[in-house]
Amino acid sequence: MKIKAVVFDAYGTLFDVYSIQTLAEQHYPGQGAAISVMWRDKQIEYTRLITQSDPHPANGSKYYLSFWDITRLALDYTLDRLKLDRKARVVEALMRQYAQLAPFPENLAVLENLKKAGLTTAILSNGSPQMLQSAVANAGMAGLLHHLISVDAIRLFKTSPESYSLVQKHMPLEKQEILFVSSNGWDALGATWFGFQTLWVNRQGLPYETIGPRPTYTGQNLSEVLEILAGN
Ligand code: LAC
Repeated sequence: MKIKAVVFDAYGTLFDVYSIQTLAEQHYPGQGAAISVMWRDKQIEYTRLITQSDPHPANGSKYYLSFWDITRLALDYTLDRLKLDRKARVVEALMRQYAQLAPFPENLAVLENLKKAGLTTAILSNGSPQMLQSAVANAGMAGLLHHLISVDAIRLFKTSPESYSLVQKHMPLEKQEILFVSSNGWDALGATWFGFQTLWVNRQGLPYETIGPRPTYTGQNLSEVLEILAGN
């Protein structure tokens, strides 16, 4: 089916979560890489824990923490786990940086090309709405994306089917008319299971997940989107 919209994951795909390593290294010499990796892993672990569990079932309301709060709590955990001093000033600085993560270099040009081609574009992210707005504005992408869709609206993180289904609430398209793009193998898999066409941007040369179907496409950076659309 012809692709009519391209929907991007945010963290790891449009914005480089490991770019935080440089600032972390300045504050904790020798630990920058370890902090950025553990921080990311813990953050994602907490999203899954929260979406899968219900600690207060009698309440009738789903337990939830925003991605922004989870990100801070994951940082707290990481610093404690690495036995690093958790100074409020440093935590604030790292969080501020997280709200303005660097985009990958080719991304802006890819989004500009999609706009010229008249395609609908969006982000679907676990990120809280404010985090997404801040990152998008900081990267100069504000006029290049039609929708910033946050799972915050339903308080269920990826890879819940409900989270992917939010996309079609914003655009009246068939699943197979939507190309979902993620650098996170688990997210590409969740979206493939959901029924989107998928592109896994394998920036780090990692093996693909060993469970589930393969994504529709695999590429090394975001420019692969333009190659796919050229043959669409
Ligand atoms: C996102 C994270 C999980 O949803 O990469 O943007």
